[in-house]
Amino acid sequence: MEFSTQSTQAIHQVKTSALVVGVFSDGQLSAAADIINRASDGAIKAVVGQDFLGAVGETLVLRHLSGVRALRVVLVGLGKQADFNVKTFAKAEQAAARQCISLRVADACSALLSLACPGSDTRQRARLSAQAHWQAAYFYDATIGKPDPARKPKLRKITVLCDKAEDKAVALGLSEGDALGQGMSLTRTLGNLPSNICTPTYLGNQARALGRQFKTLKVSVLEKKQIEALGMGSFLSVGQGSAQAPRFIVMHYKGSGMAKASAKSKTGQANGPIVLVGKGITFDTGGISIKPSAAMDEMKYDMCGAASVFGVMLAVAKLEWPGELIGLVPACENMPSGNAIKPGDVVTSMSGQTIEILNTDAEGRLILCDALTYAERFKPSTVIDIATLTGACIVALGSVNTGLFSPDDALADELVTASRRALDPAWRLPVEDEYQDALKSNFADMANIGNAGPKGGAVTAACFLARFAKAYRWAHLDIAGTSWLSGPQKGASGRPVPLLLEFLLNKTQGGA
Ligand code: BES
Ligand code: MN
Ligand code: ZN
Repeated sequence: MEFSTQSTQAIHQVKTSALVVGVFSDGQLSAAADIINRASDGAIKAVVGQDFLGAVGETLVLRHLSGVRALRVVLVGLGKQADFNVKTFAKAEQAAARQCISLRVADACSALLSLACPGSDTRQRARLSAQAHWQAAYFYDATIGKPDPARKPKLRKITVLCDKAEDKAVALGLSEGDALGQGMSLTRTLGNLPSNICTPTYLGNQARALGRQFKTLKVSVLEKKQIEALGMGSFLSVGQGSAQAPRFIVMHYKGSGMAKASAKSKTGQANGPIVLVGKGITFDTGGISIKPSAAMDEMKYDMCGAASVFGVMLAVAKLEWPGELIGLVPACENMPSGNAIKPGDVVTSMSGQTIEILNTDAEGRLILCDALTYAERFKPSTVIDIATLTGACIVALGSVNTGLFSPDDALADELVTASRRALDPAWRLPVEDEYQDALKSNFADMANIGNAGPKGGAVTAACFLARFAKAYRWAHLDIAGTSWLSGPQKGASGRPVPLLLEFLLNKTQGGA
């Protein structure tokens, strides 16, 4: 997809297959809609209040209006003018983008960005606009036997109308949204692929392919022997029941202009790289503590944390982000078998701490803990892990907010702020020592589940990880409820790539 900007007052003269203009539900036309309405002798006013009410996300297509050069005018509802905000803006953009996809046009032009939108800035809205187009154009056909060529989205060229004075901010936001959208599409596809294709080996190969695509990205994929040599006994124990070999993936991105910053990072952590750790369980049966079979297919999404790291790496590399970012992905499959770990088994993590595995279904933390220890070697300024970690997090927050855990108030605040700006919300939950008692074991340094049953399950999982993340500033994102959608829209959502990219961009651009 190609995004560009255009500044013109003569919107009725714009040549395009589909021109998107907004209409408020109180009958108020946006400035762009007003111009089109006048040029077409009242064609918009004629439908407003009757065919079209202007509810948020409602769309209506008008064809061949006299006095208007666009082949189609797509009206999109903006809701009440007094309530208009960045969330309604994003909803309107998404609806318009979906409408353009179903119209099967190859090019479109949107006037929505020129609407005044309190509490947001142009760059943010431009990013959301490009993101909306990528999201609407996303479609999955990797494992469809006879993909219908007619279903393939046609939209290629999107022009955004804006004031000349805002052209720079819009272009910047569009390029960010473009990279973000591509990152999210990669995340979604990796998440959607079934576990018989998307194996740990497959993820390793995907990482290598990313490394070939960008000079700035160095990738190494460690195999079982090398993982053993590192002493990752906890990670390896999870995959030992599977016929699929584990992989430990390291993706190291260094933006240009980083020479100075990385030299400094050797002496102190403040300037060290940011490390993202993604849970890469390519399928979670639960192991010997096997899961019930209902909806177990959804456990192919148990590598969405890993997939989000891939998506962020892609976006950052596309944008030539000027920072240093490391992506770590422990990848394996959690299966029951004669070789599988059993409840009561004790394993030794890379940190030297021993773990009594009381439930083999609490496997995410067992692979993340060794990756968190591995992260220490980079002297990172910040480490963020991303994981479909607990069903308890879904009970707590549903599928609206990602669970955010960090002992560091400043980091938690930064992430919450970034999540709100990116419209990819996260809500902070506690990680406090009082919960640590639940992880006591008589036979090891800790147990892998809390002894209070499901109570506070998302918190005890975070508390387990905290024991391995003491050497740096750390946050944990539990995306069990947000990384995929169920129901008719079943599929990976691409979250929390927007949150993470916003957080990273804020690091190097002094806020957006
Ligand atoms: N991958 C699951 C968490 C999960 C559950 C993600 C449902 C998405 C939807 C994780 O490995 C798991 O099984 N967690 C257990 C932990 C429990 C055994 C302490 C859970 O949440 O039930
Ligand atoms: Mn599990
Ligand atoms: Zn899992």
